[in-house]
This record gives sequence, C-alpha cells and structure tokens, in this order.
Amino acid sequence: MDSTVNSSASLFDLSAWTAQQLAQVEAALVQWMPQEAPADLGAAMRYAVQGGGKRLRPLLVLAASQAVGGQAAAALRAACAVELIHAYSLVHDDMPCMDNDLLRRGKPTVHVQFGQAQALLAGDALQALAFELLVPDDAAIAPAVQARLCRLLAQASGVHGMAGGQAIDLASVGLALTEAELRHMHRLKTGALLQACVTMGAACGAASAQAQAQLAAYGAALGLAFQVVDDILDVTQDSATLGKTAGKDAANDKPTYVSLLGLPAARAYADDLLRQAQAALDASGLQDTQALAALAQAVVHRSH
Ligand code: IPE
Ligand code: IPE
Ligand code: MG
Ligand code: MG
Ligand code: MG
Repeated sequence: MDSTVNSSASLFDLSAWTAQQLAQVEAALVQWMPQEAPADLGAAMRYAVQGGGKRLRPLLVLAASQAVGGQAAAALRAACAVELIHAYSLVHDDMPCMDNDLLRRGKPTVHVQFGQAQALLAGDALQALAFELLVPDDAAIAPAVQARLCRLLAQASGVHGMAGGQAIDLASVGLALTEAELRHMHRLKTGALLQACVTMGAACGAASAQAQAQLAAYGAALGLAFQVVDDILDVTQDSATLGKTAGKDAANDKPTYVSLLGLPAARAYADDLLRQAQAALDASGLQDTQALAALAQAVVHRSH
C-alpha cells in the first residue's frame, strides 16, 4: 500500500504508517506459526502465509482499532487471525477443484509446491490457528472481547461469508448473474472478511453505536469495492504485476463486474463505493480515521 493522501485538512503518509504496522504484523505472524508440525505441514503453512501479500486485512484491523482507541494486543491478534483465514482461503481457492491456479503472490501455489493433500490440510490448520490466536491463555484480553472477535471472524468466514460466497462462485461458472446476484456473491466471498476486519478492529476498543454502524458501512463498501477492483485487475494487468495468473476469470468463465458491466462502468462503480466508504467515515463521528480513509483509496486505486 503506497500513497499519500492529500486533503485540505490532512496529509497522511500511508506508506510510513503501513511500514510501521507491518513490522509488528510480520514478526507476529512468524512468532505465532507452529515451530514444529508433523510431516512438513508447518512448511506448507509458512509458505502460504509468509513472504507475500499486500496484508490489507491486518492493516484494516489495525486502522479500525486505532480509530476507536482499541487495545493493541487484541488488535494485533485479530489482525493476524484474519490474515490466516485469508491465506487459507487463497490456498483452497487456487486448488484444482476450485480456480485451478498455478501462481500466487509471485510463487507457485501451495498445492503445486506441496501437493493437494498438504494444501488442503495447510488450509484447515491455518483456519484453526486463526481462532486459537483469538483466545490466548492469559488474562491480557477480556474474555468478552475474545468471544466477540471469534464470533465476528466465524461469521465472516463461514456459510454466510467467505465459504458461502465461494460456493456461489463455483455454482455460477458459465452463468449470467444479475447485478444483485453478483453483488451478493462478492459481498460474501470477499466483502464479509474485509468488513470483519473493520468490525473486529472496532471490537478491540469502545465505540458508540453510531461509530460502529458507520464503520460497518465503511467495511461493506470497501469490501465490495475490493472484489470489483480484483475483477478489473484480472483483465487490465499482467501476471507479473499481479503475482497471480491474469485473465483467469474469463478463462474459467466466471461472472465478474467486468463481464457484467464492462470496464468503464465497473471502474465507475468502484469509485462510487469509495465515495460511500468515505461518507461512512465522515458520518462516524470518529476523529482518527486517516488510515482507514487512505486504505480505502489505496484499495480502489491499486495496481495489484
Ligand atoms: C486476493 O486477495 C483474493 C481476493 C479476495 C480477491 P488479495 O489481493 O488481498 O491478496 P494478497 O493477500 O495481496 O495476496
Ligand atoms: C477469491 O476470489 C476470493 C476468496 C475468497 C479467496 P478470486 O478467485 O477472484 O481471487 P483471486 O483472483 O484468485 O485472488
Ligand atoms: Mg475464486
Ligand atoms: Mg481465484
Ligand atoms: Mg480474482
């Protein structure tokens, strides 16, 4: 994430903020990965998680927590937990039974490197580890906060979130979805987890009902925008830039915002969602929302 956000009132250096946040996230991800695991499973897990990815989800958790003055220890655990769920979702998404991709984050996919059974198990183990991170065996994080973080992450990952959305995605190959159907699929498969980043960050602190509702609206708009832009980049960028195979959506006959609306209208929709995200932040009554605002801009204006 690199950009400097300029507005009349503020100059926010997203690159500097990101570097600072990611230093602790990367260290924690290394520390919390299993040191020992049977039959090379740990190697497949580390390969899936370390050394790549934009780390948007951890950044969103930390930015949302910052906006509500959240507890740093809880936010760091939440940030890593969401990234583990995301990494697991990518491992499974790339498998031959799903999108059948060979390249991810500039490297061979996990099943190419370790075999399909290890990829399946690495995904399973990453998912379990994500929830383990949220329930540390110490008193540092209040039990009610731990429970809320688990609930938010489970809801976003499961049947009404990522997994359900992925099921719709696979069932929609070759179909012409309506805009409402496509929006629903994108909200579930990608938007729910991104929105959960924001609501989990908010759950690390105390926020008014109004702030919580507006942060959730920000997360919903940003989460949908993210997948609209992912659809756009699949047709406008090359594989080297993306670190994953370009042109896969058309090759796999997936309905996307580009196939439904065309590029110009898909871009305009992403811009519209960015405005909605910004409006939600403005209505939140929160002061420290610069990182959230900058992340929304970076999501929509990114090149990979
Ligand atoms: C890719 O997510 C999968 C989608 C939900 C579209 P990212 O583009 O955030 O992937 P990384 O983490 O940067 O590799
Ligand atoms: C993936 O959507 C969403 C996930 C839940 C992983 P895509 O299939 O479009 O993601 P990429 O393009 O492979 O990263
Ligand atoms: Mg997919
Ligand atoms: Mg895919
Ligand atoms: Mg895609």
